[in-house]
Amino acid sequence: MSVRDSFVYQRCINPACGGTRSVLECEFTCPRCGDLLDVAYDWDCLPVPRSLREAGNGPTDAGHVSASRALLRRSGVWRFWSLLPFAPHEQILSIGEGQTLLLPADRVAEYVGLRPGRLHLQYEGLNPSGSFKDNGMTAAFTHARMVGARRAACASTGNTSASLALYAAASGQMRAVIFIGSGKIAFGKLAQALDHGALTLQIHGDFDDALERVRQAASRLSLYLVNSINPFRLEGQKTIIYRIVEALDGEPPDWVVVPAGNLGNLSAFGKAFLELRELGLIGRMPRLAAVNAAGADTLHRLWNEQGLRWRRGSWDRLRAESYFQELKRTQRKASTVASAIEINRPVNLPKALRSLEASEGVVCVVSDEEILEAKARIGSGGLGCEPASAASVAGARKLRQQGVISPDDSVVCVLTGHSLKDPNVTVACHGTDEHLFQEVLGRRGIGRIPSANPPVCVPNDLGQIITVIEARA
Ligand code: F0G
Repeated sequence: MSVRDSFVYQRCINPACGGTRSVLECEFTCPRCGDLLDVAYDWDCLPVPRSLREAGNGPTDAGHVSASRALLRRSGVWRFWSLLPFAPHEQILSIGEGQTLLLPADRVAEYVGLRPGRLHLQYEGLNPSGSFKDNGMTAAFTHARMVGARRAACASTGNTSASLALYAAASGQMRAVIFIGSGKIAFGKLAQALDHGALTLQIHGDFDDALERVRQAASRLSLYLVNSINPFRLEGQKTIIYRIVEALDGEPPDWVVVPAGNLGNLSAFGKAFLELRELGLIGRMPRLAAVNAAGADTLHRLWNEQGLRWRRGSWDRLRAESYFQELKRTQRKASTVASAIEINRPVNLPKALRSLEASEGVVCVVSDEEILEAKARIGSGGLGCEPASAASVAGARKLRQQGVISPDDSVVCVLTGHSLKDPNVTVACHGTDEHLFQEVLGRRGIGRIPSANPPVCVPNDLGQIITVIEARA
């Protein structure tokens, strides 16, 4: 066992089990009980930074910064290496991910019902593949290198596959294998997978079906799995929180609001805050708010309606299992215009419950119309995002209306993906093309949104063009 192996390992999330695996294994379930695993650190034996600011300065060599370390210091993930120290620097695969921004958004704040200065948007669309997934993919690929993997696989609603395809291409040595449901993926994302040369398998079914299959195929063929069941991926996603707290000068916000799909972010964010507190780098925990789309609302149903709680690890698995059985029996499939979060069987459910419990978190649910209206408000407020990302803002608004969030609370909504990921939905919801509207939104029963901004058809005549501009701009 190497020195690193002894300070870093994988540990069962169930405190009563205590099962462990070496950091160099890539079967991501507990060998004893089959539960999910965390990456665990023996912090007493590792160089712990004295502040988040120090952590964010990245690895240094006593005055000398080598070229590769300079690259790591530019990555918004790896400059926080000391808070996810599972990999030797030379194994890290970085393509400049995580250079994202926390931006004030007063016009969106007004829509949400918050006082000026109280809402910030964490813009993860700035990542190399256009979504937050790159934060996790750099970490997963780094681990894949550590274990000598040659083929990496995922099931995806689109962004994980885009990110996987990009990192595999960038690595120059790994092959990407992608499972997607039929007709379930936005074109921007599919385009990325194809463009970067991934083997793209379209199976009959949805994300939940694809995830089941990729897990089977991965275990049969020893493919390296990069779905968020992979705990190393979640280590990378912790850095979204570090960047948020860093941008707020070390003061955590009152709330972090996040769209809820496979619940990887919720899991990673809770772990990030728990570790920051354990290491004495923050004084208090913010509250996490998870937002389901109404057509993919497992977390909402289990948390709000059935009262499912983590209970320090003794959570009611049977309740969750019987919920999933019922979904299967009634053939209820997830369905939302926010295709990225069109998921009914979130693999990270237990970790998400843990995050919610630790942060006194809440769960809410928003309709597709609310998502699209929020997306248009974010867009006209100066930032572009895809529908799933807008669920965070729609959720914050709902929680404001319910009085859960106060007008003076400081709130960060995470914008998880870029607006160009899913142009069809955007054009359908703003445009005048009735056929497109019906195909993308109407058939789901979605109506026109109040903030629709349709293009204006004008004859090719300067006088008429000027009249329209004077009247409308
Ligand atoms: N937002 C976007 C843009 C996403 O792509 C996803 C998940 C989520 C939110 C939900 O995040 O799973 O951590 O709760 N997309 C996955 C994919 C499932 O395959 O791209 P989560």
